[in-house]
Parts: sequence; C-alpha cells; structure tokens
Amino acid sequence: MLERFPRYPLTFGPTPIEKLSRLSASLGGAVELYAKREDCNSGLAFGGNKLRKLEYIVPDALAAQADTLVTIGGVQSNHTRQVAAVAAKLGMKCRLVQESWVPFQDAVYDRVGNILMSRVLGAEIELVDEGFDIGIRESWERALEDVKAKGGKPYAIPAGASVHPYGGLGYVGFAEEVREQEAQLSFTFDYVVVCTVTGSTHAGMVVGFAKDGRARRVIGIDASGTPGQTRAQVLAIAQHTADLVDLGQQLTLDDVVLKEEYAYPAYGIPSEETNAAIRLCARTEGMMTDPVYEGKSMQGLIDLVRTGFFPAGSKVLYAHLGGVPAINAYSYIYRNG
Ligand SMILES: Cc1ncc(COP(=O)(O)O)c(C=O)c1O
Repeated sequence: MLERFPRYPLTFGPTPIEKLSRLSASLGGAVELYAKREDCNSGLAFGGNKLRKLEYIVPDALAAQADTLVTIGGVQSNHTRQVAAVAAKLGMKCRLVQESWVPFQDAVYDRVGNILMSRVLGAEIELVDEGFDIGIRESWERALEDVKAKGGKPYAIPAGASVHPYGGLGYVGFAEEVREQEAQLSFTFDYVVVCTVTGSTHAGMVVGFAKDGRARRVIGIDASGTPGQTRAQVLAIAQHTADLVDLGQQLTLDDVVLKEEYAYPAYGIPSEETNAAIRLCARTEGMMTDPVYEGKSMQGLIDLVRTGFFPAGSKVLYAHLGGVPAINAYSYIYRNG
C-alpha cells in the first residue's frame, strides 16, 4: 500500500512480536496476549511510535530544503523528544513548543525524562503556559513565524505528527508488517489494542487493517480525556490516508473503535488502576509502561480481558508505542514501587 511513498529509514526494521505468557496467565489464561515492541524500534533517543510516522514525513522536509523542524507537545512529550533526535540525526535545527498539558506537580517534572533528552539533543525549547489541546495551536504557529523571521526555513510538524498529510502512513506500514509476521507465525491476531491521543497511530492502523477486514478489530484506548475530539481526528486522518493509499473503501465513524473509560482522571494523570496495570505488566513481563499513554492502554487491555470483551481463545496484540522516559517525571508516585 505504501510503495509510492518515499521513506527515510529511522528505525531498525520490523519490530519484534513478543508473547506475554505470564501476563496472560495472571489474567486467567483464556486470552493470549502478545506485544509488538514499537518501544524498541530505533536507536534514536529511545525510539517510539513517532519515528515510524516520521519516516514518511522526513522526505518531504528534505525536499522542502528546510533547516529547522518545528513541533509541539506537552512538557513530557515523547513526540518532541523523537523530533529532536531526528533533527540531530539529519543535521537540522529543532524548535520545540512545550505546553503545560498536564496538571501534575513533581519537583523535577520539567527537568527529567523526555525534556531532559530534548535539551541534550540540542533542541531550542520554549515552555508555554497553555493547557491540553490536540488541535493546531497559536504558540506553534508563532514559533514557525519566529524561525522564518530569524532567517531560518522551518518545517512544520503538528502535535504527534498526526494532522500532517503523511502522518497516517507509518501505521499503515505497521499493519502490513503485522500481516507479514502473521504469515511467519502461522496465525492471525483477532484484535490489536492501541493507545490513542492525537490519532494518526490508530488511524493508520484502521486503514492498514481495513485491507483485510479488521479495521474494527483495532481497539483504541483513549488517553486524551477528550475522546470526542480524538475520535473525530482519528476518522479524519483515516479517511484522508485511505484516499492517499487508494484503499478503495469508505471508512466511517463505526470503523473507529475508541474506548473512553480509561483516560480518567485527566490526560497525563494516572489513576490507581493505571498504576496497578503498570505494576502488573512490569512484574509479570519485565515490560515497562508509562503513566501518560501505555499505562492507560495496558489498563484498558487488562480490564477488557477481565470483563470478557475478548472471546476465549482470542489472540490479542498490544501495540507498545514507547513513552517510558516520562515515568521519571512521576517519581513520587512510584517511590515505593
Ligand atoms: C507512548 C505513546 N503512546 C501513545 C501515543 C498516542 O499516539 P497518537 O498521538 O498517534 O494517538 C503517544 C503520542 O501521543 C505516545 O507518545
């Protein structure tokens, strides 16, 4: 589906699929859980889902002869850290707008984890006191203008690399990669569970899995806390991406399955149940998840198994999208484990 689109390699190649035997057993064993390790996809500053998306965006930035990548996220954004690493790798400058998306107080929240790495990677960072919003932000537009005013050539990458013409392509590729791995494994997955916020990860998967009739088997777990906006954004990106790759099918809101009940109490704030899920996954599989994104999708996965959402015998693939560096900014919560 992607042959026509230039791709700049930023990842190691196909990510491993790992069986989560002890986690599956601890949940009764009726459902077989697997993880696709997107968190281990690259040597660029700990990797993660944005690198798969950026592989299809970077060729456009290079063609535009831009000299500065400009993007936006929260203070502990994984996305901005990955863009900073890509800029360094390409020999470009990087301008980051980091907004106060998370109402969480920790003494070193803006010093450790992702933002620490973005600083070390050489990005110019502007902290902006605005709350959570996955839409296009004035602060980001101002940063683009500022780069231009100073004689630079900015390349605009929206939050999460999502609302970009090529933002959905990377996770179409994920679905194609899963199909190839399924052929080797001699079985297919019944469901894919994915954390959803700015939307292009989920949207790309919807398009990629629509090809073999599995769009509605992609179960998005909302971590935004603004599911109406996120669902609409997933659909818009999926429809645009479907046109781009000539999917030949109409995608509708029914193709976007988004579970809303795990994002509480707010974006970036873990609930007791999120923390219990992070601990259970860590203690059964040695697999770390974070309190903002993957901890919530892990919580959703565990709850959906426990409440019988997946029929017995189902094989469920959890897309681990990265994000662990942010846990450093929540050290007080985990001071006793
Ligand atoms: C670790 C992690 N998981 C999940 C997501 C959600 O992906 P998306 O923004 O494409 O919906 C993000 C980024 O927002 C992320 O950094």
